[in-house]
Amino acid sequence: MSIQFDSQNRSFTLHTRSTTYQMQVDQPGHLQHLYYGRRLAEGDRMDAQVLPVNCGFSPVPYGCNADYDFSLDLLPQEYSGCNTGDFRVSCLSVSDAAGAAGADFLYVRHEICAGKYQVDGLPCAYDSGGEVETLVITLADPVTGLELQLSYGVFAARDVITRQARLVNRSERPMTLGKAASACLDLPYGQWDLIHFHGRHCMERQMERTSLTQAVQTISSRRGASSHHHNPFVILCDHQATEDAGDCYGMMLVYSGSHRTDIELEQSGGVRAVTGLHDELFSWHLAPGEVFDTPEVLLSFTHEGLTRLSQQYHAFLRHNICRGAWQFARRPILINNWEATYFQFDADKIVDIAAKAAELGVEMLVLDDGWFGKRDDDFTGLGDWFVNENKLPGGLNPLIERIHRLGMRFGLWVEPEMVSEDSELYRAHPDWALTLPGRKPTLGRNQLVLDLARPEVVDYLYDLLSGLLRRHRIDYIKWDMNRNMTDVYSRALPPERQGEASHRYMLGLYRLLGRLTAEFPQVLIEGCAGGGGRFDAGMLAYCPQIWCSDDTDAVERLIIQHGTSFGYPISAVGAHVSACPNHQTGRTTPLGTRAVVAMSGTFGYELDLNKLSASEVRAVCYQIEDFKRWYHLIQDGLYYRLTGVDGDFTAWQTVSPDRSEALVSVVVTHPRANAPLVHFRLKGLDPEGTYRIAVQRFLGTTNLPSPGEAGGDAPPARRWSGAALMYGGYTLPRISGDFPSVQLHLVRI
Ligand code: GLA
Repeated sequence: MSIQFDSQNRSFTLHTRSTTYQMQVDQPGHLQHLYYGRRLAEGDRMDAQVLPVNCGFSPVPYGCNADYDFSLDLLPQEYSGCNTGDFRVSCLSVSDAAGAAGADFLYVRHEICAGKYQVDGLPCAYDSGGEVETLVITLADPVTGLELQLSYGVFAARDVITRQARLVNRSERPMTLGKAASACLDLPYGQWDLIHFHGRHCMERQMERTSLTQAVQTISSRRGASSHHHNPFVILCDHQATEDAGDCYGMMLVYSGSHRTDIELEQSGGVRAVTGLHDELFSWHLAPGEVFDTPEVLLSFTHEGLTRLSQQYHAFLRHNICRGAWQFARRPILINNWEATYFQFDADKIVDIAAKAAELGVEMLVLDDGWFGKRDDDFTGLGDWFVNENKLPGGLNPLIERIHRLGMRFGLWVEPEMVSEDSELYRAHPDWALTLPGRKPTLGRNQLVLDLARPEVVDYLYDLLSGLLRRHRIDYIKWDMNRNMTDVYSRALPPERQGEASHRYMLGLYRLLGRLTAEFPQVLIEGCAGGGGRFDAGMLAYCPQIWCSDDTDAVERLIIQHGTSFGYPISAVGAHVSACPNHQTGRTTPLGTRAVVAMSGTFGYELDLNKLSASEVRAVCYQIEDFKRWYHLIQDGLYYRLTGVDGDFTAWQTVSPDRSEALVSVVVTHPRANAPLVHFRLKGLDPEGTYRIAVQRFLGTTNLPSPGEAGGDAPPARRWSGAALMYGGYTLPRISGDFPSVQLHLVRI
């Protein structure tokens, strides 16, 4: 049993393979957090670690007056109440029909059962191996009749505990939620750093590590999308923690809309982290008997440093969030026409691009934006999902047939959540867009957002997309979303429910994606939002891969993919080789380096391969062969960051689960005269195993031969022990060139 209840002292202990989570019902009945961290011994109880000590101005619950030290403001909580004595960042704000705000949750009962709880209408983790246990603790506020059910899913083998909160109005009168977080994590002791992933369009998920300051730090998005700007994933790690050692906690929200995580360094030195829906513009009217479910949070802990924490999330997202036919299957290497043609193409041009790609081993053509409606630029056409016959005479099917005849799969871009003002759909249903009464709507990329809080809009989109998939042999969908939400107002909701519009939109989106993935499980969906503007665990439940960024520059991608790797697996990272000078930065990097970076993702091309020279074409053949050969090593292997992204070179590695193979990738980002040699230590090998380099590729180097050139494929004859490579490291010969890279494929002999 990974969940234990001790009835004598009313404590709960949750064990995973290497961690323990503990809480206890206190005398008055509050659920107090006791411990989360490295695994404890059987029978250990951490109630003596957190002693009530009054700090002055600490409110004491009525009836506890005798114990002047007892204050909800100082003790670690599982889920704080509202307006009843805990002044730290709260989980909840609620007011009753009289406008009185207050909730003080007391224990009522609990239930332990096998299997994983589900969350109505929202994506959440599932039990893939029959090893998960669920604990549901029910608490209630006796005055308002608001019930709180806290669910815990214990994934023992993965060292992950999921949490979710359900609020139920058990009274006869309506209430209004002003805030409803998913979970709170109180760490009473320690010196913690915060790691979070911020960015902007074309520069998502840059990792930042800061000390906590005596303040509240907020990581949030109010954009109606998880956003390019702040990813809904944070890490609290010991001030001394490195990639290889130290306590690290992760909190990842399974949600794709507006979110908020507050990290508060308290007066007593403890830390509180609260995560969940953003509360700005949010309110939820809870009529008698109604239920509100918060999104799920994935908690993970390790004492073995940041790499281990990342590996725990990678495995969890792959096995317990992603699903469907493409979860583990080798994804097709694709060619996308966007950066090759933008809106200017016709069927022959697309076939021309596809034919060359097929010849070199590419497996799928993705037709991007511009195939529908009056869509020759980004001012018109969204919503009119019928084929633009000027570009594709006879519709999609003749083109799909030509692509299939090349032996390729066919993929199609859509942006279903949006509508252009200049479209037949908007003219027919102006009230289906999010707009505020009496105001001209704010535009983003010249478009408006459809109101997915309206069930008829979701039904319409379902009929449209399912029809498209039924009438055509489409193997893949790129599901885009190219602006954030403003003017949030749903014409279908009454005034007291307007604060629900943005979350109801997300429920509508998830319902739509859920229906489509259930009906078309063989169709691979790649998520996208102007690149990686919705790269989160919620979308991964429907889309096992997500376009990581609109920035395809290989050097910038190193930073973006490095940040992304802290939470998300390589198999989720959409990455392509594009043309140079790069369309976003104007930088020129070697073709080989672009491929090395794209191979740390789902791998594909986004350029016209007909424009390459003969030697570049030869290089592409090598890249495709290599990627096919190493696919499972890259996607299923354990991922190690060998360096950060601030030095002169960036190196990373994947190791097969049995440690028999490894792929090391190195990119020199700052070529310098007389530079120190590139040296790094490998990780995760079998120290006693003997390894040889089976394949060695110098790419874009001006002093060493590239693959295909004489001497370019000859690896050194030497053998090394895993210990030598890990403890002594490996040194590359001096390499020169503009952003050169190296790949080493090691095998144990
Ligand atoms: C977004 C995507 C791009 C491309 C364009 C098309 O920006 O991220 O990859 O599909 O839309 O308009």
